[in-house]
Amino acid sequence: MKEATRPKEHLPQLVVLDDISKRFYPQGSPSFEALSSVSLALYQGETFGLVGESGSGKSTLGRIILRLASPTGGKVYFDGRDVFSLRGRALLDFRKKAQVVFQDPKAALNPRMRVGTAVEEGVALGGIAGTRAKNERVDELLEHVGLQPSHAKLFPHELSGGQLQRVCLARALSPSPKFLVLDEPTSSLDVSIQAQILKLLLRLKRELGLTYLFISHDLAVVRVLSDRVGVLYKGRLVELAPAKALFKEPLHPYTRALLALSPEFWDASRTTTLPAESEGDAEKTHPECAYLPLCEEPLEACKSRIPELHEASPGHFVACQPKA
Ligand SMILES: Nc1ncnc2c1ncn2[C@@H]1O[C@H](COP(=O)(O)OP(=O)(O)O)[C@@H](O)[C@H]1O
Ligand SMILES: [Mg+2]
Repeated sequence: MKEATRPKEHLPQLVVLDDISKRFYPQGSPSFEALSSVSLALYQGETFGLVGESGSGKSTLGRIILRLASPTGGKVYFDGRDVFSLRGRALLDFRKKAQVVFQDPKAALNPRMRVGTAVEEGVALGGIAGTRAKNERVDELLEHVGLQPSHAKLFPHELSGGQLQRVCLARALSPSPKFLVLDEPTSSLDVSIQAQILKLLLRLKRELGLTYLFISHDLAVVRVLSDRVGVLYKGRLVELAPAKALFKEPLHPYTRALLALSPEFWDASRTTTLPAESEGDAEKTHPECAYLPLCEEPLEACKSRIPELHEASPGHFVACQPKA
């Protein structure tokens, strides 16, 4: 992988993305690249926040890591093994170790299945057999996510949105994973419930030693949870930094615009204006920075070159031409 985004050698890497690209070929419309040359590594035990506006490729990236979609180019490694070459027992083991929670818990659960049964499916995948042992494990998981064993016999429509998301979490945790992709897990919930779920996620991570990829378009939420943050813009990683550094000193003009969009980060003393929608996304014949049409400080070089990530300060990478 590119040296630029390789984490320090002494920190164990759980997930490594090496030059991932994904092209979609929708019927009747031109193909387009949803992800372009994304390289990054997630440290064991960290929460990596992935932000970017809707359509920037966040979910696609999460799905590729989980082998729910295949990349057009590049490799994914989990615990040092090439995810797309796993077969048989090794693939099953990967399925247990890498789990996901989606945005909409209602859509993720079968309306006709009692929530206990939904959680039990994952328990069985985790290798626990025998009705009694499975029931005990389901009760334990429900308690772990702040529900009661009595919830097991209820159907999804009998639970609130927040409770349903807790069920989805219990199900994701049931095969004892090491890694969770959390794809906008609180975006469908009321703000007060969001805070409870975020607290729960923090506690579970601490107690179970999990690694999270936390996907969100909401910077305030990402800031609460993340150790490091990656910013996707039109399928490219444009900035990657420790969360503190990113919020204190965003380097990419797109990150700055995103921060300006979040009221809690609004700094009236700064002149950042919000970018207008760019005119069409037709692919250009010559390479140029994808952010060029919206950039407030473009350089001549940005018109003929796609900027690569470089390390502007230790651990803080940005794909933008250094300004003189
Ligand atoms: N299966 C698919 N077929 C065609 N296009 C897709 C498919 N999945 C996602 N896309 C497109 O890829 C882009 C990135 O989508 P997505 O990863 O869902 O973005 P995000 O999660 O950041 O909102 C979007 O333009 C979306 O419409
Ligand atoms: Mg998404």
